[in-house]
Amino acid sequence: MVSEHAETESGPAADSTAQVLVASNRGPVSYTLDEDGTLDAKRGGGGLVSGLSAVDDKLWVCAALGDGDREAVRRGVGEPGVRMLDIDAEVHADAYNGIANSVLWFVHHLLYQTPVEPVFDAEFRRQWASYETYNRAFAEALAEEAGPGAAVLVQDYHLALVPGMLRELRPDLRIGHFSHTPWAPVDYFRLLPDDIAEQLLRGILGADRAAFLTRRWADAFIGCCTEILGGTGRTRIGVHGLGADADFLRRRAHEADVDERMAALREQVGEGRRTIVRVDRTELSKNIVRGLHAYRALLETRPEWRERVVHIAFAYPSRQDLAVYRDYTAAVQTLATEINGEFGTESWTPVVLHVKDDFARSLAAYRLADVALVNPIRDGMNLVAKEVPVVSDHGCALVLSREAGAHEELGEDAIVVNPYDVTGTAEALHEALTMSGDERSGRTKRLAEAATALPPQRWFLDQLEALRQG
Ligand code: G6P
Repeated sequence: MVSEHAETESGPAADSTAQVLVASNRGPVSYTLDEDGTLDAKRGGGGLVSGLSAVDDKLWVCAALGDGDREAVRRGVGEPGVRMLDIDAEVHADAYNGIANSVLWFVHHLLYQTPVEPVFDAEFRRQWASYETYNRAFAEALAEEAGPGAAVLVQDYHLALVPGMLRELRPDLRIGHFSHTPWAPVDYFRLLPDDIAEQLLRGILGADRAAFLTRRWADAFIGCCTEILGGTGRTRIGVHGLGADADFLRRRAHEADVDERMAALREQVGEGRRTIVRVDRTELSKNIVRGLHAYRALLETRPEWRERVVHIAFAYPSRQDLAVYRDYTAAVQTLATEINGEFGTESWTPVVLHVKDDFARSLAAYRLADVALVNPIRDGMNLVAKEVPVVSDHGCALVLSREAGAHEELGEDAIVVNPYDVTGTAEALHEALTMSGDERSGRTKRLAEAATALPPQRWFLDQLEALRQG
């Protein structure tokens, strides 16, 4: 629950009258507590940060996520325009780890092993109550902070109940909800207990507008509403396909630290070898393990690539509070080691795996990639697929899962794969590696154009305009 003591929260006072509000679990800034007791602030990037920078009278409401954030709230340390909610740590853990990441994320990405899971029992109901409490904390904070008739843009599956709750508290507001994930097909969505499925849909339908990254996810949502509730009521449905931020990426990718990392990577790869690059959070839906199996199949079936290609795989830590994510990270590491043991030679390491987050190194890999492998089981959009063609130095062939949202815009110039088909993915890697230079540059140019069609600021402002117009 939100701290009862207003003075212990960061951000503007309770009589603030923001005209544009954004609500998300993870905010634009996070704090770490150093050993000497000082707080270090780390600012994030992304579409919302860039979009919000273009508007005045704004407020971002987010949750305190770790001890550093909580300490910042307690000390009254904060950024202007950000209100961090000090929600009880256990309530937050139930809502974020228990419901959002272990149930809703799994449903929308089709991640369950259905013979044994999910199991919706008393423990689930207890966590669900925390999810409601956490959503209510956001709705109350937004109701308190929003100026008359303000626009409120609520983000993602963490906060699916907020639009409905906020509508009751403040009927004057313009409320939007945006899903950054896929939306589950109706038969899969109905794994959820009926009352919960209904509550989630009604929560989002509390918004004036519910928006998605692709037409496919919007249609899936409409499908669920039609079958379960008989329709979407008065809520308008929108599609806004977030694009890559070309200006930022091109500038950032040519700074000195990126050049340094390129030199280091080239050294690891070795002279004259091709590269297959992937950059992901170590996330179940990203399908990193099958990607490695496909690479192994390539080396088995096309021995001519041995010694001549290196798979650069960056798998950055994510959601390590969840055992299934820790196990997945271990599986990725084990498999990479196995492939290196099986095929590696004194002068050739087939898989170069890095698990420590380093943005400059990611950009370096984007620049030198001959092939980018983006093979998620299912993905709301996948910005890596959009960023690589923008940054690539000499053109890069994109092997892309048909289940990534980005497929809707990039499918024509990518080599498209079924993410479960390891043999097919291995063949696609071979095709990508053998693509002629001319074809590669032609495709990369078209991919970069499609990838930057809707830059982050426009993406955000379009949503705001559409919400205000309705
Ligand atoms: C990805 C998804 C978003 C989600 C975010 C949360 O970026 O595309 O839909 O909000 O992950 O990640 P977190 O690290 O905060 O759990």
